[in-house]
Amino acid sequence: MTPDDAIPKTLTGIRDLYAGNLAEHGPSSRSVGWKDDWSHLLRFERLSRLIARDGSDYTVNDWGCGYGAMFGYLDALPGARLTEYIGYDISQEMIDAARTQCDPVRSRFILGPDVTEEADYSFVSGTFNVKLQASDADWDAYVKRHLSAIYAKSRRGVAFNLLTSYVDWKAENLFYADPNGFFDFCKRHLSRHVTLIHDYALFEWTILVSREPRP
Ligand SMILES: C[S@@+](CC[C@H](N)C(=O)[O-])C[C@H]1O[C@@H](n2cnc3c(N)ncnc32)[C@H](O)[C@@H]1O
Repeated sequence: MTPDDAIPKTLTGIRDLYAGNLAEHGPSSRSVGWKDDWSHLLRFERLSRLIARDGSDYTVNDWGCGYGAMFGYLDALPGARLTEYIGYDISQEMIDAARTQCDPVRSRFILGPDVTEEADYSFVSGTFNVKLQASDADWDAYVKRHLSAIYAKSRRGVAFNLLTSYVDWKAENLFYADPNGFFDFCKRHLSRHVTLIHDYALFEWTILVSREPRP
């Protein structure tokens, strides 16, 4: 099976997994696969370091938005003003939940597996973590294809997280990524301005890719 044949079937499984989580836990950190609210917010804090706090307005793509938890986090951030939030998800149930959590004037949602709109910043939190039965090689190629496509839709930059390969135990259905390889990919193929954050208390890392040098 080629990577392109394998991915749609995997996405159907991922969609069903998250829809099931939402039915079980309601719109909460557990429904999007996180252990607790603390780690959920810690991820948003690291990702949102990408945003320039220069008092300007900004728009966001949240790819794999789940129930839209990032809207509230960004809306409360000081130093810049969120004017439009576009959430993407493959789960209709997640999008329905997100509509109830986000300001309807500044948010809209797209059901599907791709980023289609331009925004200032794009964020990807947890969306690449579950790979089900896909091979590491196929999933690695899938992640890199999507990062390039998402970056192309981002006027100021993209931030994403992945589970780290620096672990001593791995679940078979999850993707653990080498931060060195992804740093190199981002530097060579996306932008000169890349930050790797791998100092926080979770088994994962965050990369910020900016179109401009960061202060
Ligand atoms: C780990 S959850 C994280 C949700 C959200 N980013 C958060 O942190 O609150 C991942 C979400 O990505 C969605 N997803 C997975 N693959 C996707 C794809 N190719 N396109 C759009 N959504 C996707 C899942 O349905 C799920 O809701």
